[in-house]
Amino acid sequence: MAKRIKILNIAGARPNFMKIAPLIEEMKKRKGINYVLVHTGQHYDFELSKIFFSELKIPKPDYNLGVGSGSHTWQIAKIMERIEPIFKKEKPDLVVVVGDVNSTLAGALTALKLNIPLVHIEAGLRSFNKGMPEESNRILTDYISDYLFATEASAVKNLLKEGINKKKIFLVGNIMIDTLLKYKNKALKIPILKRFNLQKQNYTVLTLHRPENVDDKMTLQGILEAFEKIQRNIKIIWSIHPRTKKQLRKFGFLGKINKMENLIITSPLGYLEMLSLIQQSKFVLTDSGGIQEETTALGIPCLTLREETERPITAQIGTNKVIGVKKEVIIKESLGIINNPPKKGKIPKYWDGKTSKRIIKILDKIKNI
Ligand code: UD1
Repeated sequence: MAKRIKILNIAGARPNFMKIAPLIEEMKKRKGINYVLVHTGQHYDFELSKIFFSELKIPKPDYNLGVGSGSHTWQIAKIMERIEPIFKKEKPDLVVVVGDVNSTLAGALTALKLNIPLVHIEAGLRSFNKGMPEESNRILTDYISDYLFATEASAVKNLLKEGINKKKIFLVGNIMIDTLLKYKNKALKIPILKRFNLQKQNYTVLTLHRPENVDDKMTLQGILEAFEKIQRNIKIIWSIHPRTKKQLRKFGFLGKINKMENLIITSPLGYLEMLSLIQQSKFVLTDSGGIQEETTALGIPCLTLREETERPITAQIGTNKVIGVKKEVIIKESLGIINNPPKKGKIPKYWDGKTSKRIIKILDKIKNI
């Protein structure tokens, strides 16, 4: 009889939870897997963490490290310090990390130091912008991973170019899309349009939280000036991230925003609410990584307020357009979508809701679960 193996999974920040959910669900089905879930506590607000556990039916974490916010160095160090004794106690056969947040790198480094085989889900994405904290998290995590699962072909290419052994790399598709397809219809039943007085296909969804966009006063001011113009043509709903809220307050921009009649502000929304809003919108303005992928999977036009993307397939065949943060360009591109038929996209290979199954099947072969 095959040995039962123990897999320790790490999640810590909002974009991790929709990736870990289908994986845990698949692990639960396997008699040969004993899973452990660790929440680092990088995100701790109800809207950024707990709501995802209840909506996506993720089991309560076996451990919550309660790390909280701080500088990146502090946060990574704190997670490592608190997770090491758990690794030692649980003695997992595999550690799984997802995405590119600080919790991802901290878990990966600890697994390396304790010689535990490491799995990275969403490996190989590269923005080629070293100033982006997620970029260093990705590169370092991939370098030390033993099994690398990629969402798109460009990621596989990047890993090969960096000298990672081909045998360790698997193109399996996008695990986040497993969650999206599972909850797409359920999300539509939420009366969210009514709540915000919106009409289908007649509003845009906005998210903004990247440090390069919200931490610099002049950049943020230019972006806000673009929103001021756009909201004269279409309603904008903006679910504000805590980092952004803090910066808006610090720069004295809250008054400016309150004056925009067609700009609706809300605190961070849950997964289902956001999925509902995105699906029914005319287009999305965002600087998030995950939302570029979700809009491609849903066929909703997306304008990405960044200079580059680590998810190029969303722009090559999907509905995404990377437009940067120049005020005039944001306005021109938004009005373009309002007034003309938008770009039609295709769904990337393996973004079909079966990625978690593919991953477990591969691990099964390797580890004989
Ligand atoms: C983190 C990730 C980023 C991801 C984003 C999604 C890293 C390096 N960054 O960025 O990749 O796209 O999450 O949300 O891991 N805060 C709260 N409540 C919380 C968490 C944070 O109020 O539950 C506030 C704190 O003031 C904190 C700030 O938000 O200082 C930033 O949080 P942090 O986790 O450092 O980075 P994010 O900007 O959320």
